[in-house]
Amino acid sequence: MIDALPDKGVPGEQILAELHEMRGADLPTHGGRLFAYVYDPAVDGLDELARAAYAISAQVNGLDPTAFPSLLAMENALVGAAARLLGGDRDTVGSVTSGGTESLILAVKAARDAHPEIANPRLVVPSTAHAAFAKAAHYLRVALDVVPVTGLRADPPAMAAAISPDTVLVAASAPSYAHGVVDPIPQLAAIAAERGVRFHVDACFGGWVLPYLRRLGADLPAFDLSVPGVTSISVDLHKYAYAPKGVSVLLHRTEELRLPQYFAYAGWPGYTMINPVISSTRSGGPIAAAFATLRSIGDSGYQELAAQTRDAVRILADAVSATDGVRLYAPAETSVVCLASDGVDLFVLADELAARGWHTQPQMACADLPPTIHLTVTAAVRATAPGFAADLEAAAAAARERGPIELPPLPPLTPEMITPALIANLAEGLGLGGGDFSRMAAVNTLLNAAPPALREALLTGFLSLLQRPA
Ligand SMILES: Cc1ncc(COP(=O)(O)O)c(C=O)c1O
Repeated sequence: MIDALPDKGVPGEQILAELHEMRGADLPTHGGRLFAYVYDPAVDGLDELARAAYAISAQVNGLDPTAFPSLLAMENALVGAAARLLGGDRDTVGSVTSGGTESLILAVKAARDAHPEIANPRLVVPSTAHAAFAKAAHYLRVALDVVPVTGLRADPPAMAAAISPDTVLVAASAPSYAHGVVDPIPQLAAIAAERGVRFHVDACFGGWVLPYLRRLGADLPAFDLSVPGVTSISVDLHKYAYAPKGVSVLLHRTEELRLPQYFAYAGWPGYTMINPVISSTRSGGPIAAAFATLRSIGDSGYQELAAQTRDAVRILADAVSATDGVRLYAPAETSVVCLASDGVDLFVLADELAARGWHTQPQMACADLPPTIHLTVTAAVRATAPGFAADLEAAAAAARERGPIELPPLPPLTPEMITPALIANLAEGLGLGGGDFSRMAAVNTLLNAAPPALREALLTGFLSLLQRPA
């Protein structure tokens, strides 16, 4: 165990060695074999550049742009670049946030606060919308109307039917995270506009790759501010813009639409607080790193990276289609490959893939959707993708051999029954006590069988068990 506050300070070299050792336990962020959490363009020298840029601005505080104009200039440049890429015009404005969740929370806040006369504001989303909308609704006390999708895409008539006089925002995805498919944005935006309601496009995930895929000829619908009725759009630079973590952009069609996003408070004796985003003090590090990343890759570089991503997606999707026991679950039309079982136990398959060095993301059954395995594909995967088919074949054969997970009989559980002691026992029984998370099939099977509220309680308890002071 490492003491974060030793009696006497420790030499820098030793600390860096300790950090490198700790990082050794993590999944590989580079190398094109991790299909979630990280976005790797495999561009030589880019990490070093982003790190150097981060270091230059790490101590700069975004709290006051008059004190640190360098940060304001970089933010305006990032917003300008996003607006140009995403169909903005001279009226478009935006903010740099810390990530997709913050961008979505602020889109909902702006929509809610634009209508102080609505006592019980509501937000309409398709059932495939990212969980961050549920978080935004929860934090902001906005009611969430979740509309079932048709063929994994938002269903315009059903979305229209869900809009009420209390609806302050309608939102949809371009593309959805779970399946990587694009909602019918033009139809949805037209419906929202006709009802006089704001419409947000969540392009947090794919907003920096979709424009390039479309330029390369992909048959994808218009999804950005060029579409009439779209009032705001979010895009994460720490995803397909390949910037280090901590940067997203939220664009609004006009300044008037953005205004209720701001928080201002002068009723205390200190400085008047004017915050465009949730954080007040903000490091310039991530913003400078994103600025350096965009300038270094450039528009033509992103197009090349999108082509590599597209090619990698095709190779992986073909591998899935050719493998007995699995099938493509969603059209591989953007940067995601999503597969479902056609005979093998998916959770065992995920473990078998991990044992072969491919780290995928199992997704649990949800309403009438079966469990699936999600692969976020980035440009780095172009180099590794040709090796995937043989390993997928071998992993599927091994999964068939092992057979499905049989859980021992468990007492019927409800969320109210979950206590720290029960979680600790369960974790021990499932082999998670020692901190080895490489064989997760039993855990995933258990979670998959649990109704959503129980799944939430179990995982909340487990995270709380992990988060203990050392
Ligand atoms: C479509 C979409 N929206 C929002 C988010 C939330 O982004 P973040 O994890 O940066 O908060 C994600 C994250 O994967 C996403 O895929």
